[in-house]
Amino acid sequence: MDGYLEDEFDIAQLVPGFRAPVAAGAPPADGAALDAADAGMRQWTSRAEGRFNPGSDLHRRETCRMFRDTFNPYRPAVLDWPRLAPAALARIVALPIWDIAVQTEGKARLRMAAYAGTVPDPDMRAALALNAWEENRHKEVLARMVAAYGIRLAPEAPYAWPADAERAYLVTGFSECIDSFFAFGLFEVARRSGLFPRELVDTFEPVMQEECRHILLFANWIAWHRAGLSPWRRLRFEAKVAAVWAFLVWERIGLARAVEGDAAAQDNNFTLNGVQSVAFDPPALPELLALCLAENARRFAGYDERLLRPTTVPRLVRVALRLLGRRPS
Ligand SMILES: [Fe+2]
Ligand SMILES: [Fe+2]
Repeated sequence: MDGYLEDEFDIAQLVPGFRAPVAAGAPPADGAALDAADAGMRQWTSRAEGRFNPGSDLHRRETCRMFRDTFNPYRPAVLDWPRLAPAALARIVALPIWDIAVQTEGKARLRMAAYAGTVPDPDMRAALALNAWEENRHKEVLARMVAAYGIRLAPEAPYAWPADAERAYLVTGFSECIDSFFAFGLFEVARRSGLFPRELVDTFEPVMQEECRHILLFANWIAWHRAGLSPWRRLRFEAKVAAVWAFLVWERIGLARAVEGDAAAQDNNFTLNGVQSVAFDPPALPELLALCLAENARRFAGYDERLLRPTTVPRLVRVALRLLGRRPS
């Protein structure tokens, strides 16, 4: 298990010019500084005037500035892991998500770093490399939690360097857009349920908000990237995006079918079907979807309205709610 804590991943070797952000300054030591860092990651308004036209220098510059300014310098090594009552510990150990969570962060950090290394613009390259660094930090948070609570993990297979780094970032980015949307709602169900200790929920709260920042960056990166492509390259890019969505839908439908009798598959669709694991009295599907929409809106509300938000999953869920006979608010 300790091996997970010694997992070295040096983004500076993969992305030219990248420097790890913690080296630039000491992490906040006292409660007030921690609170300020937490508030700073949730609220951000640009001082620039005018619209952020996708593809413009202003759009790119303010997207990257948002990502830098909202960085939270928490350190996984100093996070407190509360002592858990036996029932709560058993509940956490039994959640079928730990292997897939660790491996998802492992894939995300590599894919983001691989793509960041190909981006010619230094500002966007630095933002995407910082995103990769944050995925690595998520992996470290999970590794420390797993070690603290004695959760047994399956061995990690080596992470393959992506043959097409752009496609790999698209897969990770759109996956995060899908999974974060549902995770926001599930996290709130778990918080309200009281099944998990408050301190543990609080420890994971910045990780959740970081995923919101990641998909905010992704939505603006993709709009900026698209706008800069020639018509022919744009066509190829849209074909790649369509293929990535087809792959993600196939992966999720395929895994949903495979769920019965296959615990590993259930892991992958936890954000879609894990509500029974986080509450004694889980909400019905329409309530859960409405909560996901509300949490998604709440988490994005603090960021400059001129930045683009991910729209596909919220739109699909609004349609689903109408089909279920509920008016989305
Ligand atoms: Fe992550
Ligand atoms: Fe992320």
